[in-house]
Amino acid sequence: MRLEVVDSDITRLHVDAVVNAANETLLGGGGVDGAIHAAAGPELLDVCRLIGGCPTGEVRLTDGFRLPARHIMHTVGPVWQGGEAGEPELLGQCYRRCMELAVSRRFRSIAFPAISTGVYGYPLRKAAQIAVGTVLEFRKVKHAPTRITFCCFGREVTDVYSLTLAEMGSA
Ligand code: APR
Repeated sequence: MRLEVVDSDITRLHVDAVVNAANETLLGGGGVDGAIHAAAGPELLDVCRLIGGCPTGEVRLTDGFRLPARHIMHTVGPVWQGGEAGEPELLGQCYRRCMELAVSRRFRSIAFPAISTGVYGYPLRKAAQIAVGTVLEFRKVKHAPTRITFCCFGREVTDVYSLTLAEMGSA
């Protein structure tokens, strides 16, 4: 299982599945959610309407439509409220549920954005540690994706994820 950090627009990645940092309505929004819906095209919203939402910490799968990625795993991260309202557990659960789904669908390559670190206000370093730590615990699961990309958007996020992976990955 290869973990990598890239500085890129996630809508451009040619992977089996990209992860969308959605909200519980699954009806789109700003940030990476807005970018994915804009790039995937209107069929995505039609399908999301039929799904009827997704609780925080859970994941829903759709086709990638006009994206180069074949699928989209829509997950809903927690809104940061200071760290005492179960946010760390819920954020870790987002990564776990996406990894479990990827294993069950035998995806070979997936890409995560920095879930909850934008509009939802999760402190970047804490979020990166949960992201990397949760994915690393999947190292030995059968049929885990062989390529896992942390797709960061901009230099600051990329540097924090790269540092975190270097620290934790070699542990
Ligand atoms: N590719 C990769 N990452 C991106 C992209 C993109 N095209 N656009 C934004 N990002 C990054 C942001 O810079 C941030 O680091 O995704 C990370 C997550 O930020 P948000 O998209 O704001 O997501 P989040 O903090 O989880 O908040 C979710 O925002 O857009 C709404 O509908 C969404 O209500 C939900 C909320």
